[in-house]
Amino acid sequence: MEHHGNRVNFGSKLGAILAAAGSAVGLGNIWRFPYETGNHGGAAFILIYLGCILLFGLPIMMAEFVIGRRSKASTGGAYEKLAPGTHWKWVGYLGVLTGFLILGYYSVVAGWTLEYLFQAVTGGFAHKDAAGFIQMFTQFSQDPFRPLLWLFIFMFMTHLVIVRGVKDGIEKSSKVLMPILFILVIVLGICSVMLPGAEKGINFLLNPDFSKVNADVFLGAMGQAFFSLSLGMGCLSTYASYFGKETRLGHTALSVGVIDTLVAVLAGLIIFPAAFSVGIQPDSGPSLIFITLPNVFQLAFGDMPFVAAACSAAFYLLLALAALTSTISLHEVSTAFLHERFHFTRGRAATLITTGCLIIGIVSSLALGEWSSYTIGGLNMFDALDYLTAKVMLPVAGMLAAIFVGWVLDKKILQEEVTNHGHLKVSYYPLLRFILRYLSPISILMIFLNELGFFK
Ligand code: PFF
Repeated sequence: MEHHGNRVNFGSKLGAILAAAGSAVGLGNIWRFPYETGNHGGAAFILIYLGCILLFGLPIMMAEFVIGRRSKASTGGAYEKLAPGTHWKWVGYLGVLTGFLILGYYSVVAGWTLEYLFQAVTGGFAHKDAAGFIQMFTQFSQDPFRPLLWLFIFMFMTHLVIVRGVKDGIEKSSKVLMPILFILVIVLGICSVMLPGAEKGINFLLNPDFSKVNADVFLGAMGQAFFSLSLGMGCLSTYASYFGKETRLGHTALSVGVIDTLVAVLAGLIIFPAAFSVGIQPDSGPSLIFITLPNVFQLAFGDMPFVAAACSAAFYLLLALAALTSTISLHEVSTAFLHERFHFTRGRAATLITTGCLIIGIVSSLALGEWSSYTIGGLNMFDALDYLTAKVMLPVAGMLAAIFVGWVLDKKILQEEVTNHGHLKVSYYPLLRFILRYLSPISILMIFLNELGFFK
């Protein structure tokens, strides 16, 4: 059923780390993390988020790495290989479905970044004030056609990389794009904290106010941790199936976790000082970075229009690059599944996935405008997809991955994988197994029960 032959691997350990970090660092860090932090009161949310990373983020990343590298199969086939004839295969299929749904709505926002990059470069931000930027975003996101055009372009770019394959497409693009992204985040962070009045934003990020913490904050932080680390849909387990036998799983997981968290915090340091400096509310939701940032650059460098446009262009380029390395990884999960399970060529598998995701993307995009009156549980289809995938499907599948590695998989396999068959001395192995067996599943379950009101 699976292709056993000469399975491709990433060419180097660094390539593996950058590809996995490329998947993790994305709109989740620069678009979603700041507005979730803003909506949930700032620093207290960040502390709970960091707790989620340690309690289940990094351990589940290790679990996914073990599942992927051991099975040498994409997530859709990995469970079937490791536990043949059991129902565990459904966890793999759930991951494929989740990735497919996320790619659909994620690409819509990815498309917005291209529109904003285009506007920055062609002088579309010049002479606008806060009200002008609000109007610009509302008009654009509710337009029935323009966002779709960018959605198509973004999906096409993702498609091209995927068709080029694992080494020449995914690994090469990550090696070029990730260093550019790091430089841009650092430069923009420095610019933002130097704006007048930036201290209020830094305070908002660093001084926790626990009076705002409720069940939603925990659910939000958990969803954000899964989304941001690309966990719970077998994305990193699919990438791990391309890891070589010398790749150190613990070292790779730690590197990805640290890079992802640093970029999120730096994105916060770009956005909040900038927002406070010009008096924009931090809790303005998904539109935060599309309204705040261009406005801030306009205000800060209004008399130097070229500098204002260059800063905006750099920021949206950063976002587009970050989004691209993530859409590639989301696409790979489903493409690799169709390729391995049904023996489609990569090109054919990729075309099917691109077409399907475009349909979901069109629905999500229209849900913000023409179709906003169609709601599920009070949420339009875009928000409903985000809620369902990030706050329900990812944590459920992540919890099952922890249980699978902690309880079902032979413990010798876990030990062999984390020690590279005894070549590495690894002291954290018993702790990792304990966390996967008890702490991760229990803490995820408690967050769900808390949200459902069980601890009131
Ligand atoms: N981690 C990506 C981000 O933070 O933007 C989004 C993502 C990619 C989520 C891959 C899930 C995934 F499997």
